[in-house]
Amino acid sequence: MNKTCGQIRLADQGEKVNVHGWVHRRRDHGGLIFIDLRDWTGIVQIVFDASVNATAHELASGLRSEYVIAVAGKVRPRSADAINPRMPTGEVEIEIEKLTLLNTAETPIFPVADDDGKEVDENLRLKYRFLELRKPQLQGNLQLRHRVTTAIRQFCDREGFWDIETPILNKSTPEGARDYLVPSRVQPGKFFALPQSPQIFKQILMCSGVERYVQIARCFRDEDLRADRQPEFTQVDLEMSFVGQDDVIALVSRLVKEVFSVAGIAVPDPIARMTYAEAMQRFGLDAPDLRFGLEHIVLTELCRDVEFKVFREVAQSGGMIKAICVPGGSEKISRKNLDDLTAYVSKFGAKGMAWINVKSRAAREFSSPIVKFFKPEQIDAMLDACGAKDGDLVLFGAGPSEIINDSMGRLRLELGRMLGLIAEGVYKFVWVVDFPLFVKDKTTGQPTPTHHPFTSPHPDDVQRLDSDPLSVRSWAYDIVLNGTELGGGSIRIHRQDMQSKIFRLLNIGPEEAERKFGFLLSALSYGAPPHGGLALGLDRMIMIMSGAKSIRDVIAFPKTQSATCLMSDAPNEVDAAQLEELHIRLQLPKAVKA
Ligand code: AMO
Ligand code: AMP
Repeated sequence: MNKTCGQIRLADQGEKVNVHGWVHRRRDHGGLIFIDLRDWTGIVQIVFDASVNATAHELASGLRSEYVIAVAGKVRPRSADAINPRMPTGEVEIEIEKLTLLNTAETPIFPVADDDGKEVDENLRLKYRFLELRKPQLQGNLQLRHRVTTAIRQFCDREGFWDIETPILNKSTPEGARDYLVPSRVQPGKFFALPQSPQIFKQILMCSGVERYVQIARCFRDEDLRADRQPEFTQVDLEMSFVGQDDVIALVSRLVKEVFSVAGIAVPDPIARMTYAEAMQRFGLDAPDLRFGLEHIVLTELCRDVEFKVFREVAQSGGMIKAICVPGGSEKISRKNLDDLTAYVSKFGAKGMAWINVKSRAAREFSSPIVKFFKPEQIDAMLDACGAKDGDLVLFGAGPSEIINDSMGRLRLELGRMLGLIAEGVYKFVWVVDFPLFVKDKTTGQPTPTHHPFTSPHPDDVQRLDSDPLSVRSWAYDIVLNGTELGGGSIRIHRQDMQSKIFRLLNIGPEEAERKFGFLLSALSYGAPPHGGLALGLDRMIMIMSGAKSIRDVIAFPKTQSATCLMSDAPNEVDAAQLEELHIRLQLPKAVKA
């Protein structure tokens, strides 16, 4: 019987089986040799007994890690003391009848079997990715990814979506990251941009009468990389006609529920919603991690007339004062921790971090650098607002609201990690809705799109587009899981007059609009249906489902932080002849030349 290693169970006892795979581990006890044989389904133990099968035993003594072998043998139960309850095949072993060596292997650069538990340098792992991918954990991630994309395709087929491919060689798209460019040989001096997303094409498909579109689409963005960002990544990209925000949210909620059930993770029905404004107020970030408390308390109004100049001036000049109360924080957080946390928030632009260590409210015993600057009743009012009790520690930040939200938002996450408040195996989903249509550009002060320039303004706010554009909400929504943005989307503008108005507000003149997105504007002018959609970050989703720490662990061939592939050595130099054909002359910075 042909079987795979991971399938064999006690019910197979007495059966003759053929299995093949890689030598995972070899244990040599003289007359007895045990081989753990590994294939893509798991590991099974093979026994070579010199007194029973001397030929096979002799051959087995020459086997090394990662040799490729075929095994024919009989399944038998292990003796009681040898049962391994941690292995699915741990109750059985295969008694060898015939061993065939299919290939030898160099000594692996690092053990596939993780014997020594030592951390292997990630650069080495990425260079020898083909070896690393043999590890059961990475195989598990690849398999999970396959099962997830299969579930997505099945769901979308049932729901009437058509899977349609859109071009990779593109015109620049509007997601706002830097483009990857591809020079055109036949059109000298012209460049394609790789898609940052299929956004414009999926909207055009709606204009073409495709009512429901889906694509598991590769996207390319030249941006600063982090643990959850890759320069090329995959979106589950959806678009639907004749829908509103609630329809898209309902459909994607059902999709997410079905997809997470693949990993046995329950998704609530319905998934809670929170407005952007509430997320910012309570958590300081638009992708709140709801697995723990330590919510923000806004003290701006309370601080309008306090003696402490820093807080008063911030409150009176349109800034913000926020606090986080850490229950029992006096004991848990040391002076050194406070210094480290102050340095941490300063990375995000915070000018300082103040604190009150509440020893005894009744005895007015505090340890704090700021208490002396306040009247006692002002301290009481702040501590009351924070619900602070004896033994608690209250941390404060004051400054411009964007900086305070961001730095206190990150401080909250850091405290959550530091104090071990973020439980494993907990999944907190939330839809964040009512994003502002525009944000103020940091350098120019001009409105720029929060999402992209095709996002529909909220109908209730349209009348303020000219008078107070920054107060206008949009019909954009994000789905957030455990503080990570899983996906984002919006209802689009489907009328050309509104689209032109938004371009005007964004200071995109008719000529620029025509040059960049003329083909979309043209499509909108020939009877575009109301439409909207969303894109889920597939890699991020698999990362969370698998419990992986980095997005790199769920992508077969990922890039490093500096956007290179260590295995293939891409990107690399090209021949002078190739450059000449493309009419490209290099002008490299000095550091690169040397
Ligand atoms: P957005 O830019 O929000 O929307 O992207 C959608 C989702 O893609 C994932 N994502 C990434 N994953 C890994 N590495 C990256 N560099 C990266 N960048 C984004 C995130 C994000 O939520 N066209 C719109 C969607 C729409 O409006 O329908 C878009 O691309 O999980
Ligand atoms: P100073 O009077 O500037 O020495 O500040 C006294 C305390 O207030 C110190 O603990 C500072 O860290 C803190 N502090 C100063 N500026 C801010 C700010 N913008 N936000 C929070 N705390 C601050």
